[in-house]
Amino acid sequence: MRVKSVALNNFRNYSYLYTEFDKGTNILYGDNAQGKTNLLESIYLSGTCRSHRGSKDEEMIQFGEEEAHIRVVVRKHGLDHQIDMHIKRKKAKGIAINQIPIHRASELFGLLNFVMFSPEDLQIIKRGPKERRRFLDAELCQLDKSYLHDISNYNKILEHRNKLLKDIPFHPELRDTLAVWDMQLAEYGERIISARNKFLIQLNQMINGIHKELSGGKEDLYVKYEPDVSEGYMEEKLIRNQERDLKFGMTSVGPHRDDLCFLIHNIDIRKFGSQGQQRSCALSLKLSEIELVKHATNEIPVLILDDVLSELDGSRQNFLLDSIHGVQTIITCTGLDGFVKNRFEINKIFKVVNGNVAIEDRL
Ligand SMILES: Nc1ncnc2c1ncn2[C@@H]1O[C@H](COP(=O)(O)OP(=O)(O)OP(=O)(O)O)[C@@H](O)[C@H]1O
Ligand SMILES: [Mg+2]
Repeated sequence: MRVKSVALNNFRNYSYLYTEFDKGTNILYGDNAQGKTNLLESIYLSGTCRSHRGSKDEEMIQFGEEEAHIRVVVRKHGLDHQIDMHIKRKKAKGIAINQIPIHRASELFGLLNFVMFSPEDLQIIKRGPKERRRFLDAELCQLDKSYLHDISNYNKILEHRNKLLKDIPFHPELRDTLAVWDMQLAEYGERIISARNKFLIQLNQMINGIHKELSGGKEDLYVKYEPDVSEGYMEEKLIRNQERDLKFGMTSVGPHRDDLCFLIHNIDIRKFGSQGQQRSCALSLKLSEIELVKHATNEIPVLILDDVLSELDGSRQNFLLDSIHGVQTIITCTGLDGFVKNRFEINKIFKVVNGNVAIEDRL
């Protein structure tokens, strides 16, 4: 699978862009704030319908404009597939695949698989549970077709339930409706917990081998799922905690409070790991992700590295670059420094300046 071309219109700082990518290694370089990440964001958006930065639709429309368009052509099994996205202010975005409009984001599933790696990912181990849940959700949305549907329903119901909890003290008659929300929240919550349980089993089959190699045979890494509530017990625990939830006006039970624990020889790396260990675990996590996507989709995902090479030391850079042969790779960096020039074959170089992309032929 590969991204053949991207066309943008009024997207972020791009008024107009059309660019074609090579099937091998592509480097986008340029100073800060020129539009490198914006271009990657447009690819991420066409694969997942969401911004990897968590931006709202209207934030991605160019300042002063009313709408934005993205057209990404993906080459898969020898055929081209065109994804069109029409982003509007205050309205849901319009999406078409091969010029046929689709009505659910889940119809995009499987069309464009990629693994994106940005400097924030290196922080995933030491940051809070929210970031780790975001990682889980992003992975599962790519690997499991029903997950996107389940997680968005769960979040909507959670929002309703929290609002209801705040309203009940002023309108006690609403109390009777709580049971209906609890039932629905538990239904979607159970699906999420079950999907996360399965994902962790798959992840652990992959990550230890990768991490062992990365650490020169020294470290055994195990990722433990820490669900707020165990599978099968969500509704019961919700009901048990109703009084407390009413008191605090928010839902205290469910997968929106889950976490992941990273253990090396049974030591919790979130709390006790060195910076280097935390970074290595994050890298192992990303490399496992490539393998999991390959396994689940029978496709080699596109690898997108946003400014991440400069954050890794030489040996980790080498490990990463050695692991990615035969994968279309799109890399951003601020300069064509030594590591990029010397280390591996580059097929296409793009210079990004203020929302314009120029192809360089200094290869
Ligand atoms: N909706 C928008 N309309 C116009 N410009 C925008 C919009 N959103 C962001 N920008 C501009 O895009 C620029 C940032 O682009 P981007 O994040 O792609 O930079 P970058 O090249 O990746 O930089 P860095 O090397 O610092 O990561 C900023 O200057 C920002 O003002
Ligand atoms: Mg950037």
